[in-house]
Amino acid sequence: MADSPTVYIETYGCQMNVSDSELMLGRLAEYGYRAVDVPDGADVILVNTCAIRDHAEQRVLGRIGELKRHMKASTVLGVTGCMAQRLGPRLLERAKHVDLVIGPDGYRALPSLIESARNGERVAKVDFDLEEHYEDFRARRVDGVSAWIPVQRGCDYKCTYCIVPTTRGPERSRALDDVVRETRETVAEGITEITLLGQTVNSYNDGTNDFADLLQAVGSVPGLRRLRFTSPHPNDFSERVIEAMATTGAVCEHVHLPMQSGSSTTLKRMLRRYSREEYRECVARLRAAIPGLALTTDIIVGFPGETEEEFAETLEMVSEIGFDDAFTFKFSAREGTPATRLPESWTISDEVASERLARLILAVRSGTRTINLGMLGERHEVLVEKLSRRGTLLQARTRHHRTVLIPGDESMIGRYLMAELTGTTGSTFTGAVVPTRAALPMAG
Ligand code: SAH
Ligand code: SF4
Ligand code: F3S
Repeated sequence: MADSPTVYIETYGCQMNVSDSELMLGRLAEYGYRAVDVPDGADVILVNTCAIRDHAEQRVLGRIGELKRHMKASTVLGVTGCMAQRLGPRLLERAKHVDLVIGPDGYRALPSLIESARNGERVAKVDFDLEEHYEDFRARRVDGVSAWIPVQRGCDYKCTYCIVPTTRGPERSRALDDVVRETRETVAEGITEITLLGQTVNSYNDGTNDFADLLQAVGSVPGLRRLRFTSPHPNDFSERVIEAMATTGAVCEHVHLPMQSGSSTTLKRMLRRYSREEYRECVARLRAAIPGLALTTDIIVGFPGETEEEFAETLEMVSEIGFDDAFTFKFSAREGTPATRLPESWTISDEVASERLARLILAVRSGTRTINLGMLGERHEVLVEKLSRRGTLLQARTRHHRTVLIPGDESMIGRYLMAELTGTTGSTFTGAVVPTRAALPMAG
């Protein structure tokens, strides 16, 4: 179909945005659009944006400026996602070559808004739609091995640093049956690993079913081998949810459990709604129920008022818990969030925040390295995801979410193999494929 219109999409931010981009591409495919890999000459260019930190927004603003060079006179440029929601019409004023600004709940209107833009209209569509789950959209998945399945949109927590409640609106859950249906369809396409998505995914509740019900229902879809979810909130790990994780075979032994800080007083100012002790207790309950559980986390340094003692408590927790890995961030003040109303004198200088971040990264890396060195020689089932960037090796993943590079060719993508961990860079592994009974030729 040489003359079908083309769309190029660039995605920033979290998995929720990756998933939304797949939904948008799916919707546009129904309207005859063909996805292309480069912006040059595309009829529609979409930039799906993130607003979580100022740095993320600056990067996207720069990119939007740059994209101008890749546009034909007739190209429609749309900015979608969280920054679109946050800035709305301000974005149209700021960048005259942007035609459309669409927030996360407005993608149903994408085809018609593109038409309006063709007729010269410039539109900002940023209202929330609490019923919108895009049930009738068929995601156009970019990855053929692993799939994102959104189960919840928005967030009802109000962590004082966070822009997400503003950009994604109130929390709402999809009906369990719809999630199970999408899981079935996804498995039927040959995908055996899925990740359930939500900002506080374990607070999932569709009015009848909670997250424990969801894990059990999705986990019993025939053919599904690996079930993951991100990100849970420590306060929503009920006994029921932990029990469902432990008893649902497909649920992987890995939890990404954002801690944000290891200091109870900082956590209080962040309005995270748990203390250092409660976080520790949550980890203990998870570890007791799921032996060998891998734990990763998110940590923010330099939150307003963070003292050296409070930061030291974070470092202490990092070594005490023994995270398998952590994403670490410098606090970024977001317009309109409660943290911006804290006393000016509480601001942590960039210098101090950078220095703390550097120390935190060292602590995290050294912890990861120690754990990973201890894993050498172990055998793990891996799912082959893709060719590694180095080209000659395959990138595979354990149930614990470790990356293992193994020898092999493209035909092995999507297969499950047993790998022995033979080396580690400290963060990723190299491995050797171990023949399993299933992989051996049948005995005569
Ligand atoms: N809903 C998820 C987090 C989504 S945002 C949760 O509650 O765990 C991903 C991460 O970005 C957060 O966990 C936090 O560590 C970081 N983050 C969010 N807002 C931030 C800000 N204003 N400055 C720095 N980091 C931030
Ligand atoms: Fe943001 Fe907190 Fe909601 Fe996570 S739980 S999205 S950090 S407000
Ligand atoms: Fe960014 Fe929005 Fe996700 S702000 S982190 S893309 S929910």
